[in-house]
Amino acid sequence: MASCIAFHSYKGGTGKTTIAANLAALLAKKGHRVFLLDLDVYAPSLQAYFDKEPKRWINDFLNGTAEVGDIIMDLTPAIEEVYYNSNLSAKGKEKEKEKITGKLWVGFCNSKKEEIYKLEGGGGKQDSSKIQLLRRFILLREQLISLHDADYIIIDTSPGIRYWSINALAVADTLFLTLKMGDLDIEGTKKMAEEIYGSFTKFGARSYLVMNRVSGYCVPEHVSDLTITPHITPVPGIASSSTTTSSSSPSSSNIESVSMMQQQKAESNILSSALASDIRMDIISAIYCYCDIQFTKKEFLTVLKYPDHPFAKQFELLAQKIEGVQSKE
Ligand SMILES: Nc1ncnc2c1ncn2[C@@H]1O[C@H](COP(=O)(O)OP(=O)(O)O)[C@@H](O)[C@H]1O
Ligand SMILES: [Mg+2]
Repeated sequence: MASCIAFHSYKGGTGKTTIAANLAALLAKKGHRVFLLDLDVYAPSLQAYFDKEPKRWINDFLNGTAEVGDIIMDLTPAIEEVYYNSNLSAKGKEKEKEKITGKLWVGFCNSKKEEIYKLEGGGGKQDSSKIQLLRRFILLREQLISLHDADYIIIDTSPGIRYWSINALAVADTLFLTLKMGDLDIEGTKKMAEEIYGSFTKFGARSYLVMNRVSGYCVPEHVSDLTITPHITPVPGIASSSTTTSSSSPSSSNIESVSMMQQQKAESNILSSALASDIRMDIISAIYCYCDIQFTKKEFLTVLKYPDHPFAKQFELLAQKIEGVQSKE
């Protein structure tokens, strides 16, 4: 059965687009037919992320001027190129690269001011035209499944409680509420979870927390030769603990930094579980803040570009959980 996953958050910049795009690409690599839709209609970003110029937009389908086949762009060749040119570690190279056996299509959203205005029902008599747009959105989901045999529809939404975010949550069967550590608004998130998510989970949708940018991976430069091996450090709430140190004798400042990191990690773990019970949602994934991703010019499909990176491993776990849930249905 097809699954429709919406990435949402209370605040902006929590990693929705990054996680949605990487997850979509990984599920495609694993053999699924994946449709990634940009429903962040107020500030679309998938077009900039993939650097593609679509002929038609999701907006055209919603306005009734395009068919579903016109607005989905087949990006399978693009992700194949990234993956087959990817960097594997020496260890990774020993294994032959798996093939990309699935497909990825992306539906882009138009960022022009007048197009955003139309999606707010500005094109016609406000309420009726808004409902007509919503009907078309429901049809889009149905047609991706019935005409295009979708396994996964992944929707990137706008943060907060806005018309199109709520529509995306209503259409999805799995809701991923994404939180960024270090910039949490627990009260706001909790209120939103109770008021909005509750009404969807009541009707069978599942909701999970995705904790992003959790501390514990980035090693300050002056302790990097000590070394806490970041590549095998656990992801809070997901993997088991395994931290190694080298035999070199650490300076006292190194020890302070390491113990600070361990303290941060412990605090993160406590905060994550307190949050999960407060918001009453399980954590499906906790993703480290990866400074090597954050400070590259632009993060782009790290799961395919660096398949050995711990970020990619984290997504592998998330994909397996998603596949597990789907296969039970
Ligand atoms: N786990 C992570 N580690 C480091 N940087 C991250 C991580 N997740 C996201 N980012 C960065 O954070 C910024 C905001 O992410 P983005 O996906 O655009 O958020 P949103 O879509 O919620 O606004 C981007 O620059 C992205 O590369
Ligand atoms: Mg975004």
